[in-house]
Formats: sequence, structure tokens, C-alpha cells
Amino acid sequence: MAEPKPYAIEALELGPIENFVYLIHDRASAQAAVVDPAWEVDRLIDLARRSGARIIDILLTHSHHDHVNGVEALLNACGARLHLLEAEAQFWETCPGRPILHHGGDEIDLGETSIRVLHTPGHTPGSACYRLGNDLITGDTLFVFGCGRCDLRGGDPEAMHRTLRRLQQELPADTVIHPGHNYGDAATSTMDEQARGNPFLHFERPEDFVYYRMEYHDRHRHSPYHAVPRGREMP
Ligand SMILES: [Fe+2]
Repeated sequence: MAEPKPYAIEALELGPIENFVYLIHDRASAQAAVVDPAWEVDRLIDLARRSGARIIDILLTHSHHDHVNGVEALLNACGARLHLLEAEAQFWETCPGRPILHHGGDEIDLGETSIRVLHTPGHTPGSACYRLGNDLITGDTLFVFGCGRCDLRGGDPEAMHRTLRRLQQELPADTVIHPGHNYGDAATSTMDEQARGNPFLHFERPEDFVYYRMEYHDRHRHSPYHAVPRGREMP
């Protein structure tokens, strides 16, 4: 039988654009990390309290307003350490507090839970995913059957293409993804389901991906996103 995980991941869907905010709770130490605190900080604090956990870390996937608008309130409420990639802090310019700046490959220890930081540029230059056990918190890099837009400041569709291909190559098929928005037809999915049904993972050539992401997709597909069989991305 598989060993029980040393941690639990709980999700709250908050705000007007279906953001997922995550609480990672390390069972042995009763310490918790919040990923992308935004919108209703009171509910996050309440969730941690009900879980019997103390929030000691705040992890950011990227610096867009809808993912960070609760950072200052949460820093003031619990004095947690703020973590993000150095590349994102440079891009953001107005990063609050004194963050711990990371590079891809770093590990953050939350009690007995080890969290690996992945640098996944494309949506923003310093976007991050967080990997623990067979779970991957993906921010706006990868959604269930979708991916983050690349047309905002700092977006780069060719970088997104490389990022998504690397995730697909490096992550085991049973990896469970936890996206930054509830835009798919389910809250979570596996890399295997995404490899088969996420159209953004189907393009070999960068120019095809760039056309689909920048020109085609938003005119033809709307959330909730469903699986698209390989070869049916465009007519
Ligand atoms: Fe974003």
C-alpha cells in the first residue's frame, strides 16, 4: 500500500475570476503554506485555523493582481515568509515585504514536506510551479485543458511552449495538477489526461503553438474547457 502523504492540499475558490487559492498543510509539524493569497484572506486564515495549522509560508506562482491581492493582509495577520522567483520579483517591481527569492530547482521545506520550485516562464517571466509528492500547483501556467495567456506584459508564447513541453517530459503521468483558476470541467486532473486532452500540449512546432495561443484559441474556445482530442485543435 502507498505511504500516506505527509501533507494535505486544500483549495478555496475565491474572487470574480474563479481563482484557486491553496493551503498546503504539513501534518507532522502543523505548519502550512498558502499559495497565491487573494480576495478573501479571512477565509484562508479560518481554513488554517480549522485544520489546526499555522501559516508560516506564502508561495507565489506569479505577481498578477488576482493572485497577490491578499499578500499584504496575510503578511500582517501571520508574519509568514514570502517566497517567489527572483525573475518575478524583478518583473513585479513593487513586491511587498522582504521576500525570499528563488531560482528553479530550489527546495522549500515545510515541516516534513519538501516543495520543489520550478521556473515555468511564459505567462510571466518569473512564473513558478510548485511540486510536492505527485502534486503540482501550476498557477496560470497550466489549467485543466487550458493554459495561461501570453499576450499581457511579460508574456512570451515561445517560452510557454518550451515550458509546457518540459513539464510534459519531466513529470510522471500520474502527477495531479492544481491550477490557478477553475477554468476546466474539473478542479484537478492528471498530466496523463492533459497530455491526451489539453490542446496546448499537442503542438510540436513553436510557430503552431504561437498561432494557436495568440490568434486562434480565445476566438473559438470558452471556459469551462473540455478535452480536445489530438489532431482536433483547429479544423
Ligand atoms: Fe495571471
